[in-house]
Amino acid sequence: MNKKDYTSQIDFSKVMESGDNLAFYIEITNNIIDYIRNNKSATFQEITKYVGGSDRRVIRLLDQLVELKILRFYRKRFFLRDTLSFTNFRISDVRCNFCDSKIVNIDGKLKSVRSFVEGALMKRPTPTFIFDQRPVNADTIVRRVAYLLLKGDAQDKKIALIGDDDLTCVALAKTGVAREVVVFDIDERVLESIESISQKYKLGIKVVKQDLLKNTPKKFHGYFDVFITDPTPTLKPLVLFTNRGLEMLKKGSGKIGYISLYPSHMEKTIDFQKVLGEMNVLITDLIPAFNQYDFLEFTYTPSDLKLLKKYAANEAKISFFEHLMRIETTDASKPIKMEISRLDLVGRATRRILDDPSKDPVLVDKQKHKSIQKAASTIQKLIKQNERN
Ligand SMILES: C[S@@+](CC[C@H](N)C(=O)[O-])C[C@H]1O[C@@H](n2cnc3c(N)ncnc32)[C@H](O)[C@@H]1O
Repeated sequence: MNKKDYTSQIDFSKVMESGDNLAFYIEITNNIIDYIRNNKSATFQEITKYVGGSDRRVIRLLDQLVELKILRFYRKRFFLRDTLSFTNFRISDVRCNFCDSKIVNIDGKLKSVRSFVEGALMKRPTPTFIFDQRPVNADTIVRRVAYLLLKGDAQDKKIALIGDDDLTCVALAKTGVAREVVVFDIDERVLESIESISQKYKLGIKVVKQDLLKNTPKKFHGYFDVFITDPTPTLKPLVLFTNRGLEMLKKGSGKIGYISLYPSHMEKTIDFQKVLGEMNVLITDLIPAFNQYDFLEFTYTPSDLKLLKKYAANEAKISFFEHLMRIETTDASKPIKMEISRLDLVGRATRRILDDPSKDPVLVDKQKHKSIQKAASTIQKLIKQNERN
């Protein structure tokens, strides 16, 4: 769907006192149009609050947009005259009324998506520490999609999921608003379950078996508008997954990445920020504790379980939280160079289960999940080799 360029019609000298900031107000104009398109209508307050810009300049800009008959002002709300709409989801359908939009509303229009996800998760494969999998819960999956909708990052977009043991793709595709949803993952079980859900419910999700340490298919370079990833939250995995995301985004500014990081169970580090700086991406949003990771009973020892029962019997069971970060590309955004090997992706949890495979339910049965068994023995060999050197 081609969007019209409205900015060429605007006399920005009537909007701004001086010529500086022109690029910013061109962007604001486009964002106002997008915001109204994605929400069907908006008040002035909503626009200054959720789009940005100086209130005075924005009201002048809105006045021009009305005068130019691009917007219509009716009953205290601005409407787009061209009624092209990307979606039947309004931003207000997903905005939380109680916390000023920091967190989204998934009990409104997304309720049916929430119950669909609940059903789909029955087919989610048992997580394995071999690929450092720790899936999020159903609420988080739907909240992520709600957040993308809120920001206009799902509507009519080509979206790559770089690793998706969570099955975020299922909720995303279920809304029907994205142009394309493609999942890249190393774990065949994850891809098979996504494929079977997608086929059964005609969701149109594409899956690609991909070890991110190897090159991604050329045809996906410069292809996507948005990527979503949830890497192991240490430096090298973060760089690897984000690098892959950046190389697959369309060139130029304004493309979007969602990265889960700053886990509640690990010390915060400035290193993440430094590498993101080197990649020349803008951190636009960082939502604390947005991601809730499922409680996995098998990770608890019997004595820990007793403590849990004693001190947290009536609480929702969540293992840990991570922030959700949204980044935006600039004209200078690029993947960075860093030596990253298989062993750099191996965290403490993986080493622990390699020492005692009975702690990973996927490794217990040696006859099943051959690809995971194979990956485990490759990592074992690398660790031994490394210890010898
Ligand atoms: C790395 S896990 C992280 C899970 C959890 N969110 C965390 O932060 O601890 C996320 C996804 O990446 C996939 N993954 C792990 N290693 C990969 C690799 N080398 N190439 C492609 N996908 C990989 C996993 O299968 C999983 O679906």
